[in-house]
Amino acid sequence: MLENFHTNSVAPLMLTKAMLPLLKRAAAKETGMGIHRAAVINMSSLLGSVQLNCGEQANSFKWYPYRASKSALNMITRCLAVDFEEHGILCVALHPGWVRTDMGGPDAPLSTEESIASVLNVIGGLSERDHGSFLHYNGEELPW
Ligand SMILES: NC(=O)c1ccc[n+]([C@@H]2O[C@H](COP(=O)([O-])OP(=O)(O)OC[C@H]3O[C@@H](n4cnc5c(N)ncnc54)[C@H](OP(=O)(O)O)[C@@H]3O)[C@@H](O)[C@H]2O)c1
Repeated sequence: MLENFHTNSVAPLMLTKAMLPLLKRAAAKETGMGIHRAAVINMSSLLGSVQLNCGEQANSFKWYPYRASKSALNMITRCLAVDFEEHGILCVALHPGWVRTDMGGPDAPLSTEESIASVLNVIGGLSERDHGSFLHYNGEELPW
């Protein structure tokens, strides 16, 4: 549990803390919200959704450490969104899809190229309305 929290929840927060002076400096030069200004994109997972962990989906992955650490990352994203709003730094949590990586395994439907192309497209279009949201790799909003 602690190892997962360390990697998936604590590290992204500490990294953001370390980057904050640069994020603020970038944000001071622009207006609006988006990657043209300053943004924190936390790589989360559908498995971190509390709301979606019911019914059929609930039976498939009994992975307490991963799920809980991604839920924590989602809450961290919301906390950052509240704190960074006044600085104009956009914060979102994003699910990259189920991808054929070491973690995703060979049965995943998406190649890394497909996932990343879509993720970059979504990230490129982020604005004020997305601030503090949890997004699917195709840009749709996900339930917390
Ligand atoms: N693949 C999916 O289907 C999927 C779905 C939802 C969310 N995600 C998220 O997408 C992100 C990337 O996942 P992935 O599929 O690319 O996983 P992956 O193939 O297992 O790669 C994970 C990467 O994280 C690095 N890493 C792990 N623990 C670390 C630590 N303590 N310190 C520094 N680096 C560490 C690994 O480094 P080493 O190679 O050196 O071990 C590796 O490069 C993750 O946040 C994952 O939760 C993936």
